Amino acid sequence: MSTKLNKDKVIIFDTTLRDGEQTAGAGLTVDEKMRIAKQLEKLNVDVIEAGFAGSSPGDFEAVKRIANEIHGPVVATLARALPSDIDIAAKALKGVQNARIHTFLSSSDVHLMHQMRKDRESIMIMAVDAVKRAKDYLEDVEFSPMDATRTDPGYLYAILEEVIEAGATTVNIPDTVGYSNPKEFGALIKSIQENVSNIHKATISVHCHNDLGMATANSLSAVSSGARQIEGCINGLGERAGNAALEEVIMALSTRSNFYNLYTGINTKEIGSSSRLISSIFGFPIQYNKAIVGQNAFRHSSGIHQDAFLKERTTFEIMEPEKVGWRGEALVLGKLSGRAGLRSRLSDLGYILDDYQLNEVFQAFKELADNKRELTDLDLEALMSEQYRISDSQSKFEVRTVKVFCGNSSVPDAEISLLCPNGNEINQSSEGTGPVDAVCKAIDKITQIDVELTEFSVSAVTEGIDSIGEVTIRIEKDGSIYSGKGSDTDIVVASAKAYVNAINRFLSIVDQSKNPII
Ligand code: KIV
Ligand code: ZN
Repeated sequence: MSTKLNKDKVIIFDTTLRDGEQTAGAGLTVDEKMRIAKQLEKLNVDVIEAGFAGSSPGDFEAVKRIANEIHGPVVATLARALPSDIDIAAKALKGVQNARIHTFLSSSDVHLMHQMRKDRESIMIMAVDAVKRAKDYLEDVEFSPMDATRTDPGYLYAILEEVIEAGATTVNIPDTVGYSNPKEFGALIKSIQENVSNIHKATISVHCHNDLGMATANSLSAVSSGARQIEGCINGLGERAGNAALEEVIMALSTRSNFYNLYTGINTKEIGSSSRLISSIFGFPIQYNKAIVGQNAFRHSSGIHQDAFLKERTTFEIMEPEKVGWRGEALVLGKLSGRAGLRSRLSDLGYILDDYQLNEVFQAFKELADNKRELTDLDLEALMSEQYRISDSQSKFEVRTVKVFCGNSSVPDAEISLLCPNGNEINQSSEGTGPVDAVCKAIDKITQIDVELTEFSVSAVTEGIDSIGEVTIRIEKDGSIYSGKGSDTDIVVASAKAYVNAINRFLSIVDQSKNPII
């Protein structure tokens, strides 16, 4: 008999496009969601929760497109336990092979009393009916009793037993408000296996929020206790303090496989690109010391550490940076590089361009290389993000020229030229309290859209005085927040691009919500 233990697979369920999009200040267009879904497919997640089809026409469209264009992972949509939501979910997933309806309903007394205003019996009936209705459309049905960790355990077991009986193939245990801790949560998962008689017919999933900073630890404790699906978001995005950061969960299972004896099907080399793409599209910078994907995650600063590390890497490094697709700042291309070199490097980074696209990018690359002699992979990724923003902005506003006059003895003055949706190029100038304020005011005169700039931040893509500056801006319009990004070696130009990008994203999201759900 073999003494080797059999490893179990943990299913990785990515909800960046659903719970992640619930991050305050996030809001994605259908095209942006599609680009993220393609990257998640490369990362080889098992399930992509593409959205909440019944919540808006834009989400319906995104779920439908992703379900039809993504072929590896299962594509799921969230649905409230209501017939109308289940029907819209099924409509979005119609004809798709690998699809799942994920229906949810609150189960804790505090939610029942104050949010649902229903008793336990009515909730039980709604849950069972929702699962049965979803099951009429699809084999793969997940049910989540929302706020499970604050639900009376006896009622939780009963509801789980009933929904499994009704056909749920996955039962998800959400720690909706991030209230639990690893010991308690692990014990809850064990008790579910002991008290729900038909639990062997379903996969146990967990969905942990990070309000007390324990989402990753709680998820790992749950799989040690028998759960076999973890839900989370890349970069720990999500409602309030976010969800379990998937990159952390995945690398903990991989790096400490000697402890967990579990595995995932994730292509870990795609973690870095996924994290950077999602950060860029969502407009949420990654904190420098963030585990696995932060800029400092593999940097050694103390002399003692550096000395030991140079003698033997494993003295101070528990994972190889290459394993998570970490990109250093090695020079890759420069001013004299040609089209072939650029095409080949971009293809290594996962950007496959046709001749027309290559010409466009090459032009931008040459302009960048004039200002910044040495270009790294991180610069190329920033360049490609900017190119996508330009192509997404077709028939919207586009920055043509930016001129600013400022200093400590004059009032800042900006002159801007934008290409407008009607094809005309318009110039305007404005004074402001600073150069960025002047730029935004001049842009406002052209767009004639009344928005308020609520957040502004700049970060450098690489080190050095000639680094590309990446500006993130948030604007508020009619009570909603829209983010925008722009990059350039000149940070005032980057600011103009970011502000226009935020306005364009507002226009796209408003356009999307006009289409009916059919
Ligand atoms: O946090 C939560 O409970 C959720 C459910 C919809 C699964 O996001
Ligand atoms: Zn959640």
